Amino acid sequence: MSTETTRRVTIDDEYRARTRASANLYAEACTVIPAGITHDSRFTLPYPIFVSRAAGPRKWDVDGNEYVDYFGGHGALLLGHSHPAVVEAVQRQAALGTHWGASHTLEVRWAQLVQRLIPSAERVRFTASGTEASHLALRLARAYTGKPKILRFVGHFHGWHGEVVAGAMSHFDGSVPAGIAQSLLDQSIVLPAEDIPRIDETLHTRDDIAAVIFEPSGASWGQVPLPPGFGRSPGNRAWC
Ligand SMILES: Cc1ncc(COP(=O)(O)O)c(C=O)c1O
Repeated sequence: MSTETTRRVTIDDEYRARTRASANLYAEACTVIPAGITHDSRFTLPYPIFVSRAAGPRKWDVDGNEYVDYFGGHGALLLGHSHPAVVEAVQRQAALGTHWGASHTLEVRWAQLVQRLIPSAERVRFTASGTEASHLALRLARAYTGKPKILRFVGHFHGWHGEVVAGAMSHFDGSVPAGIAQSLLDQSIVLPAEDIPRIDETLHTRDDIAAVIFEPSGASWGQVPLPPGFGRSPGNRAWC
């Protein structure tokens, strides 16, 4: 047998053979979009698939391959793709106008529904992304307390605005990510979530902390769970 016919077909080979249209689109995307992707989580080697449609738990790429979709709209699609009730509601609303630039009834109803789910939410502010929400929350905490510092935890992700990136996905050694001012990083105290005595001491010896921000499910969306007892002081002292 020739070397060619005995060559092992790798997953990579098969992926490339089945996704030629995605490969072409990726090459095109790289000429207009940084790294050819519109969200970091779409980074895939050798290149991402380009999807053309989705329904329920499945999606199909531009080459016609069918996938079971474990992405689920980054976790947002509890009802799967294009649930008929969601499609009907979106179509009905889009026909009534796409950007009223005015207050309306449904924003009040929506805020009330959020309050029913999260009764401690005295007021609800809508933002377009989690990044904006955490940016706003930290600003609000500083405005309310008059204190400058934020306590964060290694590996806990809160979006990509300047003051929460270092130590979340990279720069764990305290170095400064490109494009971010050292003075901004100085406003964060970043501790390992498993070092409860150090967190406890920090909270009880400093008087300049406006807020503690963390992923309640643990770092990296729960992949690194919080230690048992997190949020409770070893000496039973309250953290806040
Ligand atoms: C805990 C947490 N905070 C903030 C964000 C940032 O959200 P967005 O990507 O909408 O800016 C994410 C996104 O995955 C997140 O999981």
